[in-house]
Amino acid sequence: MPRKILVSNALPYANGDIHLGHLVGYIQADVWVRFQRMRGNTVHYVCADDTHGTPVMLRAEKEGLTPEALIDRIHGEHSRDFADFGVAFDNYHSTHSAENRAYAEDFYTRLQAAGFIATRAIEQFYDPVKEMFLPDRYIKGECPRCGAADQYGDNCEVCGAAYAPTELKNPRSAVSGATPVLRSSEHYFFRLSDERSVAFLREWTQSTNAIGVRRLQPEAANKMKEWLGEVGENKLTDWDISRDAPYFGFEIPGAPGKFFYVWLDAPIGYLASFKNLAARRGDIAVEDYTDADAASAAATEMVHFIGKDILYFHALFWPAMLKFAGYRTPSQLCVNGFLTVNGAKMSKSRGTFITARSWLEQKLDPQWLRYYFATKSNGTMEDVDLNLDDLIAKVNSDLIGKFVNIASRSAGFITRRFDGKLGATDKAAAAEFITAWQQGEIAAAFESRNYSHALREVMRLADIANQYVNDHKPWELAKEEGAEARLHVVCSTALTLFRDLARYLKPVLPALAAEVETFLAIPPLTWQGEWSPLPVGHTINAYQHLATRVERTQIDALLEANRESLAPAAAPTPSATPAAAANPAAAATISIDDFAKIDLRVARIIEAGPVEGADKLIRLILDVGETDATGQPHPRQVFAGIKSAYAPEHLVGRYTVFVANLAPRKMKFGLSEGMILAASDPTGKSEGIYLLSPDAGVVAGMKVK
Ligand code: 2FM
Ligand code: ZN
Repeated sequence: MPRKILVSNALPYANGDIHLGHLVGYIQADVWVRFQRMRGNTVHYVCADDTHGTPVMLRAEKEGLTPEALIDRIHGEHSRDFADFGVAFDNYHSTHSAENRAYAEDFYTRLQAAGFIATRAIEQFYDPVKEMFLPDRYIKGECPRCGAADQYGDNCEVCGAAYAPTELKNPRSAVSGATPVLRSSEHYFFRLSDERSVAFLREWTQSTNAIGVRRLQPEAANKMKEWLGEVGENKLTDWDISRDAPYFGFEIPGAPGKFFYVWLDAPIGYLASFKNLAARRGDIAVEDYTDADAASAAATEMVHFIGKDILYFHALFWPAMLKFAGYRTPSQLCVNGFLTVNGAKMSKSRGTFITARSWLEQKLDPQWLRYYFATKSNGTMEDVDLNLDDLIAKVNSDLIGKFVNIASRSAGFITRRFDGKLGATDKAAAAEFITAWQQGEIAAAFESRNYSHALREVMRLADIANQYVNDHKPWELAKEEGAEARLHVVCSTALTLFRDLARYLKPVLPALAAEVETFLAIPPLTWQGEWSPLPVGHTINAYQHLATRVERTQIDALLEANRESLAPAAAPTPSATPAAAANPAAAATISIDDFAKIDLRVARIIEAGPVEGADKLIRLILDVGETDATGQPHPRQVFAGIKSAYAPEHLVGRYTVFVANLAPRKMKFGLSEGMILAASDPTGKSEGIYLLSPDAGVVAGMKVK
């Protein structure tokens, strides 16, 4: 029985550009959707812009637009970005829509009837000039713990403390600059802490769905156990779902001046987009996918692809809202990790905060990114690192060197020598391909979203196909007298194998697969039926160039296009570094002997991990080429303040420069035995920390002079 699946991606906010960080999850979902369709399953793939809330309202005002005009424009930009990356939603709707309003009101009314809505007054900061309540991110002041200036109302970026905005010293409104005042107002809450909800979530988050798949990945399910606590314990708190006017959103029925909080109607937007699609299409019964019964009958599935930052909303609030409003609950959440670029957080000053649009404008092929992200996606919540050197190497070696190469070395002979007509395929040569098809390992890997495994297997097969061409050398057969028949078989076999590879790559590289279908003059490749070779006598089209290599210069241009230049020099703020430090030229000169006192060496990072209680530090264990008295390697421990820029797991294996004779320093966390070197902008205007790396070929312990 074919499956019927409603698939969604998280709805991007309508106040910013789509960037590569977004695309990880969208590409993962799109690949899965395409795979399911090739299997013969019915999939409805929906998304929408997440349009409501204070940031959209304020940005529109700043641009001199109505919120409606702003979200209209962004809707166009987002739709275009997704389409250009091959993320092919059946519908890209908006949470500011009639369907979404109707659903939001319906959810609210049903939850209220079931006793899940409560009201109570809360005190909050209010901007007396702007006449609005201020979300935490719109209040700034001094950190109550460390005193750092200019910190947001929810946490300190310097010491990592979390606090309530009312704890900030000298608070001010980031909107008007006014000093906020405390004001009380009535808020509406969803009673997440209701014991019915706690009991339901305890069960739901650990359960499998109607087709036997876990609703949450193991890591996510464990997180939920942590958030839910032990049986008998109730760690959940009620959820504030209302905001006071002025607010861009939907007014709550029967509560004038109160609006649904953006996160209340955002996931409901999945259903709204689906309903809108159904109305356009006319052949989809929405209830089959949204009724509670539909879920238990396993007749349909509802699968949400999200990032790990919004797990809380999707694994607690959303299923509880659905359940107690009488709807079906999600079959599965597919949660992806964050994106790092070259091992570090995306950064505007490094140019690694890369927008989807700039990728296209720099004429980089979207399929390169799809391929690379797929090779790095294994179905877990692990972060994905976009290593740009690795992208160049992988795309050029896998797609050009292995895949396209098979066709480009065999197709010409078919066209020139056999009038475009294929001969027989050598089944013995195709044996591994036939087994792979029958065993279904690649399909299983796509099903479980372990694309990285699937593609490794596909490239193993590509190696076999290339070996076959190398062994039989069609270019030599073509010159050999009487080898016509063998030439025909070899080239036809190579193209059958090439066809198989194109089929496996099609979910990831739909545009390339479509070109292959045209070139081979075959119907759209599917993932069904028995394996069979391309038929004897079938006429193919002349081979045309299928893919281009990535050039290093293109990647450099991409980074350049995304690099935000340093702001022009401004008057130093009170918190900035002293003038001497701000001017790199101002340091006093030293003699070469002074410099020689510093024992600089190459270090290899052998371990890296977080430091409990220090949000900015990473604990590093370094091989600096030293051994102890018994000849055993003697690594050094260092605490480095580079956590804002580097994920510890990406540092392991890297080489850097190390000051070996710095006096050891006793810290709260342990002994720091030296220092590693990194660059940063002394004016503080440009964010970012840049760890130094020696050229390839160095060995730990080498002296730096
Ligand atoms: O975190 C975000 O970008 C939200 N706009 C995601 C919303 S997902 C769904 F709930 F709508
Ligand atoms: Zn602080």
